[in-house]
Amino acid sequence: MPRLPLSLFWRARRVSPGAALLLPVCRDLPSALLEFGWIKQHVESEAKHDGVTKRARVDPDWVGHRVLSLCRRRGRDRWMLTVRPEPEAYSMYLAERLLQEAGGAEMASEKRTEMPALTVLDACTGTGCIALLLYAQLRKRVGVHVVGVDIASEAIRLAQDNAIRNGLDGTADEASLSFVQCNLFSNDWLADPLVQRLATTDHGLDVLVSNPPYISTDGFARETARSVRIFEPKLAQVPLNGDEDVFYHRLLDLAARLNARTVLYEVGSLAQAERVVAAALSGDQGDGLIEVEIWADSPDIPAPEERSVTVHGRVIPIRGSGYGRSVFLRRR
Ligand SMILES: C[S@@+](CC[C@H](N)C(=O)[O-])C[C@H]1O[C@@H](n2cnc3c(N)ncnc32)[C@H](O)[C@@H]1O
Repeated sequence: MPRLPLSLFWRARRVSPGAALLLPVCRDLPSALLEFGWIKQHVESEAKHDGVTKRARVDPDWVGHRVLSLCRRRGRDRWMLTVRPEPEAYSMYLAERLLQEAGGAEMASEKRTEMPALTVLDACTGTGCIALLLYAQLRKRVGVHVVGVDIASEAIRLAQDNAIRNGLDGTADEASLSFVQCNLFSNDWLADPLVQRLATTDHGLDVLVSNPPYISTDGFARETARSVRIFEPKLAQVPLNGDEDVFYHRLLDLAARLNARTVLYEVGSLAQAERVVAAALSGDQGDGLIEVEIWADSPDIPAPEERSVTVHGRVIPIRGSGYGRSVFLRRR
């Protein structure tokens, strides 16, 4: 991993000494400022310094104190994933887009149950933070059924614990959140009644979202943050066969099988985003894609200049500020 330039530390110190302390683990100034903001927001002032120092010592457990006071925890089995700002940013933005599309933002509460509930599958759910955020945001306005799936039993336990910690457990006719253990590459789990309920609506699955393992074996050794290498299971970062794109091919196949109307996949770089877009455009459903976008780290914050890439002759807008972080597809 390249060393950070000293000038960056000086710049960070001028903006916020606390954020400067977080630079070695966060790697860039916007992330350091964001994490420092969370720590400030959620920690009593006398404990603040302790929080920053703990995070600066690369303990990712600390960063979980945020929006829904979500999702960290070394589980009983010490299995854990770092909570990062990007999934929160794109999940919130996705929820907003879905509500706008459903007319949900203006929808009067008595109309809530008149429209069919949205169905959401979060593949490779990990801590469950994406599933939880979408569920929490959407159920305020529309009916919604969310299922998170993951291969690791520890992840499923962690996601369920996080649902309880955030008061998001329990089901009703028009809202439910569940977690199912499965290997995404097998087909057995598609017959699970909870998954079936998502896929067998009149219109198919509404949303397939995923933050899958997407780092190559080489990238993991050379570029992955130290805190991730130390604390996270490698299974969460690197696909077993070492091919960084293998999950996206499977996810595109699942999107077609489940008739997913909207998909959002986190990616590791703009180059990977372009490869995912290329695979989507050349797949069976490529012609039916009415929206194809790359979302940057903060999709809701406009970049100083409009950006785009061209893939298979189609201009793909890059929405928001920061690095290319996820691929958004919507079909007819
Ligand atoms: C990058 S992490 C997901 C992080 C999650 N979005 C979060 O923020 O907590 C990737 C997840 O994929 C899961 N995973 C790895 N291989 C899998 C497979 N074959 N099927 C299902 N899940 C898998 C890992 O257990 C891990 O929880």
